[in-house]
Amino acid sequence: MKFETLAIRLQSKRSGNKEHSTAIYPTSSFVFDNAEQMRDIFSGEEEGNIYSRFTNPTCREFEEKIAALEKMEDAMATATGMAAVFAGFAALLRKGDHILVSRAVFGSTFNMMKNYLQHWGIEYTYVHPGEVDTWEQHVKPNSKMLYLETPSNPGLALVDLEKASQLCKKHNLLLNVDNCFATPYLQNPADWGADIVIHSATKFIDGQGRVLGGVVAANKEIIEKVHSFVRNTGPSLSPFNAWILTKSLETLAVRMDRHCDNAEALASWLESRGSLARVNYPFLDSHPDVAIARKQMRRGGGIVTFELEGGLKAGQEFLNALKMLSLTANLGDSRSIASHPASTTHARVAEEDRLAVGITPGLIRISCGLEHIDDIIADIDSALSSIQ
Ligand SMILES: Cc1ncc(COP(=O)(O)O)c(C=O)c1O
Repeated sequence: MKFETLAIRLQSKRSGNKEHSTAIYPTSSFVFDNAEQMRDIFSGEEEGNIYSRFTNPTCREFEEKIAALEKMEDAMATATGMAAVFAGFAALLRKGDHILVSRAVFGSTFNMMKNYLQHWGIEYTYVHPGEVDTWEQHVKPNSKMLYLETPSNPGLALVDLEKASQLCKKHNLLLNVDNCFATPYLQNPADWGADIVIHSATKFIDGQGRVLGGVVAANKEIIEKVHSFVRNTGPSLSPFNAWILTKSLETLAVRMDRHCDNAEALASWLESRGSLARVNYPFLDSHPDVAIARKQMRRGGGIVTFELEGGLKAGQEFLNALKMLSLTANLGDSRSIASHPASTTHARVAEEDRLAVGITPGLIRISCGLEHIDDIIADIDSALSSIQ
């Protein structure tokens, strides 16, 4: 089946009520027919649900859909995207291991490395996303994983997944890709050899800014380890949120096409306006990695960034001049959102680290929603005109 059909028709077994839409199972635990069955399910001799921290049918439907859409064998849902990032590290790395990390990763992932993993004896080396050809020199005998985002948040840096995967195969590293900005509809890292794909499902997968969620997709052996980590440490997805997310997947393809239509139109309009220092969108001819974007992504996604001359002050004035776009700490919503990474999401990242990945003081990130493009452009145009 094609992507759109799988996203709609992959459904857990109907209950006796023969519901058409998928059922939701908000229950903490599950009952057993007798002591023998309880023993067999606990020991793994018989399949069955025990407790919703371990498995839940609503979460399972979401996991099975993500696995299919990401062309992976299995998946494990988590309470947030950061829980998925952490589960991917904690379940697979040990004290003394080393990982290569693309420098252009989400602010909290950056802080996770610096403030936690390294204190637990997991070493990391940052590598520049645009220089995959130089990464081999950073591989060490104890290197176990390469972790990256493409496109990255918020700088929209791209990594050539084919080259990254070749390096990983050569040195026996796990390739772990945060595919949050692209979603499985626009990019499947598994096509290029990725071993692990993680998502913040909070973003485009939910798509309406309602719930937090995350997911790790990989082969069965890896997911067994991630499952054991989640089962024993507790960052499990709630069945309510899983129900929202599995329903949201049904419309992911149509929503992503509209996000992309709006983002493409906005990026071209911003470039043609001519007054901005830089406009950044993966499928713009002016993007330094447009060839990589065209090779591995179906379309450019819903995020556009641009650079205001006038730095931090201009960034804040621009946000204050907007009338319709929301000022909020999220992206991938049906509502368009404007943010200023240097003073918000990446404020805790040292300035030199921000600059190294293009997060300049005047950088504005627009998450293009599903409103009419004319209204999105009109709001941004009037805000820009009022400050320039
Ligand atoms: C690329 C990326 N990865 C991970 C996360 C973390 O996701 P969550 O907020 O669901 O924990 C985010 C959040 O913005 C993100 O943009």
